[in-house]
Amino acid sequence: MELSAFGTLLLVFMLTFLVTMWVRSKRQQSKFPPGPTPLPFLGNILQINFKNIVEEFVQFGSKYGPVSMAYLGHKKVVILNGYDVVREAFLENGEVFSDRPSLVIPEMVFKGHGVLFTNGERWKQMRRFSLSTLRNFGMGKRSLEERVQEEARCLGEEFQKRSGTFFDPTFFLSLTVSNVVCSVVFEDRYDYEDKDFLDMLALMKETFQIVSSPWAQIFDLAPNLFKHLPGPLDRLLKNFAKLRKFVMDKVEAHEETLDENCPRDYIDCFLIKMRLEKDKPITEFNYENLIYNLMHLFLAATETTSTSLRYALIILLKYPNITKKMQKEIDHIIGNSRCPSLEDRIRMPFTDAVIHEIQRFADIAPLGLPRATNQDTVLRGYHIPKGATVFPMLTSVLKDSKYFKDPKIFDPGHFLDEKGNMKKTEAFIPFSIGKRVCLGEGLARMEIFLFLTHLLQKFDLKCDKDHEDIDISPIPNTGSHAPRPYKMSVTLR
Ligand code: HEM
Ligand SMILES: *[C@@H]1O[C@H](CO)[C@@H](O)[C@H](O)[C@H]1NC(C)=O
Repeated sequence: MELSAFGTLLLVFMLTFLVTMWVRSKRQQSKFPPGPTPLPFLGNILQINFKNIVEEFVQFGSKYGPVSMAYLGHKKVVILNGYDVVREAFLENGEVFSDRPSLVIPEMVFKGHGVLFTNGERWKQMRRFSLSTLRNFGMGKRSLEERVQEEARCLGEEFQKRSGTFFDPTFFLSLTVSNVVCSVVFEDRYDYEDKDFLDMLALMKETFQIVSSPWAQIFDLAPNLFKHLPGPLDRLLKNFAKLRKFVMDKVEAHEETLDENCPRDYIDCFLIKMRLEKDKPITEFNYENLIYNLMHLFLAATETTSTSLRYALIILLKYPNITKKMQKEIDHIIGNSRCPSLEDRIRMPFTDAVIHEIQRFADIAPLGLPRATNQDTVLRGYHIPKGATVFPMLTSVLKDSKYFKDPKIFDPGHFLDEKGNMKKTEAFIPFSIGKRVCLGEGLARMEIFLFLTHLLQKFDLKCDKDHEDIDISPIPNTGSHAPRPYKMSVTLR
């Protein structure tokens, strides 16, 4: 065979090969959900505005439809917009969408333990245990509700000390909600001035800020590059080491005083389970999982619940007429001689509707928490590969105009029927839905109800500006939603 003929053949062969490869990859592409065209290696990272990732991903919904996809580097990220598709994925296909993606920072700091970022059998065991322990009577003598009521009283006293002055409630609200977790996991609450407690909270807060910053998202794209640059990584690891020590000391103290017949709290229940399973060849009940579960409970409970309460108060300040109407209902159903209890809630439809509307409007976790698929699947006709990251855009559900008449407006009427009864709506999912739905949903809803009713039973609220001038829109350009800073004052009723 002549050289040139060989060359031609080779060329033809190579061309055919390239064309088939290209066609095949195109065909693959076209089966994936629609989205912006990716560049090699970088994917879409140059096209995506990370500073306003929430708005960006909501826009994907209007541009590409309810299921869309972006490439962050080589990572496939599926974005779900609107209630119907989130339900289809998380409820009707629940098992497939029940993993968390493997992310570099959580992996580095949690080392594959604890309920928040694990998958498979480990996650199932940790979740089942935590859920059953966090039930109202899961931990021995004192119910969850009593612990929350005690804390509500302490918060009320703290507010009362400041009556007549304008103060920012942020700090007290985080003390209060982390103290509920302390009460649940360590048996006792702390004094609001306790140094250990305050140190731990400061650590937790800083850690949360670093983990949810844009730095963390970018770090995840190129960890090997960023590992060697100066940045928050060092502090993050140091913080986690300190938190770990704080929690481990508590666990050791519990072991010394444990009475297996009378568990006092979450740690006791876990230690009992560890002893029960100590002869099993494989068990998930070990110190590592205990320690990281404890950290996860603090991390997942504190910012979320305290931000929701902070949002609730600014909304109540904005609408004094709504606040008055709640107080009327409180006076009518509870009176002023006993403290509010959870049982009151079903007889208080207006208050219940206002609280639902607060959580809907506040929309504090607009992106949800990322999930991942644990096998190849098909959603709305699109191919979604195993291991894809999935963002359920909770904001697009809570503001879904198919389910809420006027989604951008704060209106308790979204949850009331013509007769003033509470009207449930399935698209109310601030805690997400499905197999990984927030594990603290019951506790968080209990806290929000008991804290707010307690405060309104006791106090009239006032803001340092005219209520018409209060801006209840969230601080812009963040991956989570929080109210703008404000000052308030209380007077005893
Ligand atoms: C208003 C307050 C809260 C909000 C809005 C909230 C919201 C959420 C959301 C959206 C998720 C992600 C669920 C998913 O993957 O689809 C989540 C998960 C979780 N939450 Fe909450 N949460 C709140 C309070 C709490 C509290 C008080 C606790 C602790 C007792 C808690 C513990 C957890 C845990 C452990 C997870 C991970 C569950 C898992 O991966 O299986 N949360 N939460
Ligand atoms: C409260 O006042 C606002 C206007 O400031 C009004 O739109 C709303 O309907 C009122 N709500 C109730 C429950 O009275």
